[in-house]
Amino acid sequence: MVGAALARSAAGRFEVTGSFFGRPVDHEGAIYWDLRQDIPPVLDRIRPHLIVHTAALSAPARCERQPEDAWHLHSRATGALAQWARRHSAYLLFLSTDLVFDGRKGRYTETDAARPRSVYGRTKREGETACLSTCPSSAFLRPALIYGHSRQGDRGADEQICRTLTDGRSLHLFFDEFRTPLWLEDLVRVLLYFLERRPAGLYHVGGPHRLSRWEFGCLVARSAGLPLDRIHRVSLSTYSGSPPRCADVSLDCVRLKAAIPFALHSPEQVLFHENTR
Ligand SMILES: NC(=O)c1ccc[n+]([C@@H]2O[C@H](COP(=O)([O-])OP(=O)(O)OC[C@H]3O[C@@H](n4cnc5c(N)ncnc54)[C@H](OP(=O)(O)O)[C@@H]3O)[C@@H](O)[C@H]2O)c1
Repeated sequence: MVGAALARSAAGRFEVTGSFFGRPVDHEGAIYWDLRQDIPPVLDRIRPHLIVHTAALSAPARCERQPEDAWHLHSRATGALAQWARRHSAYLLFLSTDLVFDGRKGRYTETDAARPRSVYGRTKREGETACLSTCPSSAFLRPALIYGHSRQGDRGADEQICRTLTDGRSLHLFFDEFRTPLWLEDLVRVLLYFLERRPAGLYHVGGPHRLSRWEFGCLVARSAGLPLDRIHRVSLSTYSGSPPRCADVSLDCVRLKAAIPFALHSPEQVLFHENTR
């Protein structure tokens, strides 16, 4: 979702080489690349000045089932990209996650200690550490839950809610699990700004509003004119799956706000205004 949106927006400003894995992409010149394999030979061929590592096993449950793949993509590949970037003075941007936190505190700033509770969070945290130790001029971003129009039409957090309701199915959403939903277009704008300025280090990237899953679901349904009566308000205490869910991984983006000259949108602004849809 993020890689495709970024490649589209960056195309006029940069010479872009996209990569894909399972599903082919429509970006011209995109290459097939399995990041579990040897990294340097591919980079030696492309010789990039800027590298954005968006590839991931982005579903936490899948990481629990495929921990080795999660480690390869989030930890080992990030370390290899960082090593190549340092050697060739390239700028690396790594996308980590708000799920490096355990969710007990909420409103996390960049100085709060990461305490991941899942394979996804742990391997992402290892990737962050690899960036920091191997290539200190790189940046690693922790995006919050992302919503917006994805190329496939089913990847954005809002698109998944709409699809379920449109299909006539019900949703059970937690009223006590909080995130700071981030609009895909805002994230792309931040990434482009970073690619132009090359700031280093850790940045949280979340929207300005802390919302529960249930509040977000209701906003999405209301904005799309879909029925609210099929959205059931449930407590996190009813959940017993794996990995454990994190109650409040809302982000406070102190460093980001000081680094960028524009404000990010709230879901209310995005979902209820025609010009952002
Ligand atoms: N979406 C969110 O709400 C969210 C929130 C916080 C952080 N993030 C992070 O932000 C980044 C972008 O997220 P996203 O939503 O755009 O994720 P996404 O749509 O799931 O994209 C991840 C990409 O990684 C590719 N991939 C999987 N295995 C690979 C392999 N072995 N080698 C190379 N590529 C491989 C996938 O290819 P196939 O699909 O073809 O298999 C997919 O295109 C990810 O790092 C994610 O962890 C996402």
